[in-house]
Amino acid sequence: MRVKIDGETRGVLALWREGADVKMVDQRLLPHRFEVLTLCNHRETAEAIRDMAVRGAPSIGVAGGYGVAQAALEARGMKLREFKAYVSGATDTLRKTRPTAVNLFHAIDRVAKATSKGSVEERVAAACAEADRIAREDIGASRRIGEYGAALIKEGFRVLTHCNAGALAFMDSGSALAPIYVAHRAGKRIFVYADETRPRSQGAKLTAWELQQEGVPYALIADNAAGHYMHRGEVDIVIVGADRIAANGDTANKIGTYEKAVLAKENRIPFYVAAPRMTFDLKCRNGDGIEIEERSPDEVNWVWGTNEQGDYVRVRISAEGTVAKNPSFDVTPAKYITGFITEAGIIKPPYRKNLHLAFGKGSAA
Ligand code: MRU
Repeated sequence: MRVKIDGETRGVLALWREGADVKMVDQRLLPHRFEVLTLCNHRETAEAIRDMAVRGAPSIGVAGGYGVAQAALEARGMKLREFKAYVSGATDTLRKTRPTAVNLFHAIDRVAKATSKGSVEERVAAACAEADRIAREDIGASRRIGEYGAALIKEGFRVLTHCNAGALAFMDSGSALAPIYVAHRAGKRIFVYADETRPRSQGAKLTAWELQQEGVPYALIADNAAGHYMHRGEVDIVIVGADRIAANGDTANKIGTYEKAVLAKENRIPFYVAAPRMTFDLKCRNGDGIEIEERSPDEVNWVWGTNEQGDYVRVRISAEGTVAKNPSFDVTPAKYITGFITEAGIIKPPYRKNLHLAFGKGSAA
């Protein structure tokens, strides 16, 4: 992602590894402040995932993989038995951070598996190599998703997206936003509606900021305005990301995605989910098996932003004592999804069969 900081344009990733440290853009402060966090051990990385300094399924996955590599580096002076116990404790800590995005569990499992053979020194090296491989794979997947998805965006299209599935959520340029960036860079005249995405406002804070940095024409809209534009024929395609996709195609994504999908079907607008292989959970039969994260009611009762003096402040928007509920994701049934934009191409129904062919055991991908 290319960002303008203090008038200077720089290329940055959402997160990366520097030896035993994990570096990440602190997404809690954007778009008001651009700060890079340094996380010195797996516990700090786990806390950054839990508190959403890093967020978006693929970025969470990369962070989880780096966290296991950090644990291996922390334990490099230990005897094998202690090393194993230490890494296993670290994977438990990292697993408990956020429950819905399956990329986290896939990445933790892959890096933990890499620590299962050889001397302690060999296991440490294998863990770091696997964590870095996951990050590199994400970059490749993001690029291919961009290319496949851009073919769906025709000249003059108005695209609606929900939450942030851009460069901050995914190494390189994202999942849902990657096709938009490719289409825009190819000179297609397009327009994006970015849903605000209450309560954490990833659309307002992150997607609008990314689109602005990239020069893509867009408008930020309140979540409840999406149906209005769809009904008026002003949306040509909806593209969203995903946090976990079950074997039948049921898809967990940011809360509010489900209603956008139903509205898209009602208004005969194609509804695509863009996601890499790491977001598919073929062991999960359908959406009922996906755990939905319930976050603090404070995220609903309070909002963060800058005041006119430029101070970053939190303000209460409901009466003291208000009872709030805050499910972070919902499940969109597969019947509302026109297709999945993946690094293996566009996958269409029947999903149980076609997802298995693309990503099941023995698939080419
Ligand atoms: O709670 P978040 O911000 O981690 O949720 C992110 C989303 O729901 C995104 O839409 C999804 O992870 C896709 S990111 C490529």
